[in-house]
Amino acid sequence: MKIVVTRKLPGKALNTLFEKYDVYLWEKDVSIPKEVLMKEIEAASGLLCLLNDRIDREVIDAGKNLKVISNYAAGFDNIDVEHATERGIAVTNVPGVLTETTADLAFALMLAAARRIVEGVKVAREGSWNGWAPELLLGMDVCCKTLGIIGLGRIGSAVARRAEGFSMKVLYYSRKRKPDLEREIGVEYRDLHDLLKESDFVVITASLTPESEGMIGENELRMMKPSAILVNVGRGKIVKTDALVKALKEKWIWAAALDVTDPEPLSKGHPLLEMENALVVPHIGSASFQTREKMAEIAVKNLIDVLEGRKPQYIVNPEVLGDIGG
Ligand code: GLV
Ligand code: GLV
Repeated sequence: MKIVVTRKLPGKALNTLFEKYDVYLWEKDVSIPKEVLMKEIEAASGLLCLLNDRIDREVIDAGKNLKVISNYAAGFDNIDVEHATERGIAVTNVPGVLTETTADLAFALMLAAARRIVEGVKVAREGSWNGWAPELLLGMDVCCKTLGIIGLGRIGSAVARRAEGFSMKVLYYSRKRKPDLEREIGVEYRDLHDLLKESDFVVITASLTPESEGMIGENELRMMKPSAILVNVGRGKIVKTDALVKALKEKWIWAAALDVTDPEPLSKGHPLLEMENALVVPHIGSASFQTREKMAEIAVKNLIDVLEGRKPQYIVNPEVLGDIGG
């Protein structure tokens, strides 16, 4: 059987694929061109891909024998899951393993924006540091403030648990209320507008869906406090970029710290890369040695499980498996 893998992954997990299958590996450190993918996928039974590989209808239909698309990510908005399902192709992802690592990054961004870490490093490095000063790089307190989490999934819950250590009051908004979690981790539900009005930090951990796309636009940003900090570790398209640029320029909010952007990547000179109150990192939410290796192991295992007729640990469209056992 042939497997297409769209990038080298950290760790040894890919070796298992090489031992079992005829593997086509795209070796360059840029995205596989669509025409190469379309050609290689033709005879493939499995595809192991990245979150920035667009697996649309056309790609899926090129895969005449395709049985499984294993995404090396928690999010799967890059894949036309509906069409894969129609074609009976399993789509798998790797959620659980990256939860804590991504929650760590959400907190790192909150702290870095609030305490102006990047500007501080710049001052220290540039030699414009003239010693301790009462008003040098004043920022915002994190402790004891109100945190509003948009999307209380695994990552959102892990952010909420961290916030307890900072004595924060934690609010959340999600499509469905989660009374069990409210009790268990002590978070309070708010509708989106109330959450935006009350929060000092708004952290987006939601995935990209038709409901969340463009959820934070001009109206929403205007509802936030002028002292508030917006953090996005979900998906870039949840926030309307033009509105955010305007909000930061006109100081409707105090700062934004983003792991994900729209577009992604941002091109050199983009306003979000130039403003002091915007802090952008290049989609590194899950980027720890440990987690990226574990993600590779699970993505490989998900793929093999489907091909060998077992139910994988994480499947996005379980309905395609039919009677495969658990
Ligand atoms: C990262 O954004 C992921 O979905 O894994
Ligand atoms: C991602 O794994 C989430 O559920 O937040």
